[in-house]
Amino acid sequence: VTALQTLGKNIPGLVFISDERNHASIIEGIRGCKNEKKVFRHNDVQHLEELLKSVPQDKPKLIVFESVYSMSGNIAPIKAITELAKQYHALTYIDEVHGVGLYGETGAGILEQEGLQHEVDIVNGTLSKSVGVFGGYIAASATIVDYIRSFGSGFIFTTSLPPAICAAATKSIQLIQQNKELRKTFFENVKSLRTAFSNNEIVFKENNSHITVIPVKDATLCREIANKLLEQHGIYLQPINFPTVPVGEECLRIIITARHLPKHINHLAYSLKKILHGDNKTDWQEFPAVAVAD
Ligand SMILES: Cc1ncc(COP(=O)(O)O)c(C=O)c1O
Repeated sequence: VTALQTLGKNIPGLVFISDERNHASIIEGIRGCKNEKKVFRHNDVQHLEELLKSVPQDKPKLIVFESVYSMSGNIAPIKAITELAKQYHALTYIDEVHGVGLYGETGAGILEQEGLQHEVDIVNGTLSKSVGVFGGYIAASATIVDYIRSFGSGFIFTTSLPPAICAAATKSIQLIQQNKELRKTFFENVKSLRTAFSNNEIVFKENNSHITVIPVKDATLCREIANKLLEQHGIYLQPINFPTVPVGEECLRIIITARHLPKHINHLAYSLKKILHGDNKTDWQEFPAVAVAD
């Protein structure tokens, strides 16, 4: 929020060009300043180009998008977006909140994986997801970082992160950088989860990321399934309903960890199958090793 608002309020005439599926924190940041904004269809580079063309050449522009979209698991066409940005002299701002820690040789994110770290002007990330602590950051040129640090009221007028949190985050980032094996196990777990779902007629959306989405398309049903998972099977999955997703796109969303074991995956698949397809369709023999999650 602060980074976007600071840019909007301090760069005269800045036009935001934002993906329609951007996270609420991005939308809030853009809304918080009164700049002109244009919204392009999700991951649609043709539409993005149309919007870029519609802004006068001499007006500053900022393309705002995510690397991994949190609710669908879709990955942005980053290279194409950065090429358009160059062509139309726009700045770029990417939210790597769901990429950092999981992708790339040292876990720096999708930009590292795709060799595009130097192609985007501003990267925002969090310390609260794969880093497992609290807080957030931007990475950009020294000039941009210094600028946002000097003018960002949301940053200036609040207590800075406590040393213990910073120390924990530093250690966590070191572990992420050093433990490629954890990332390998993590993606093997994503694959095992999806195989278990396919084997049990649990329909999920295909994507190239680690976020597994089971469409439910009904808010009441979505909550009911989540309640049953918790009360009857001891599994906590948040129902994703409006306004987090548009009406009609309600879903269950699963982000597995590197520490989950096959028995946990089987337990989830078994429980979901039981809830979604009813007792009589469940073959109990398929789940010999599983009873309860640790
Ligand atoms: C895409 C995206 N951006 C930003 C955030 C905000 O992160 P934090 O909760 O650490 O402020 C989230 C959190 O859910 C997110 O999913």
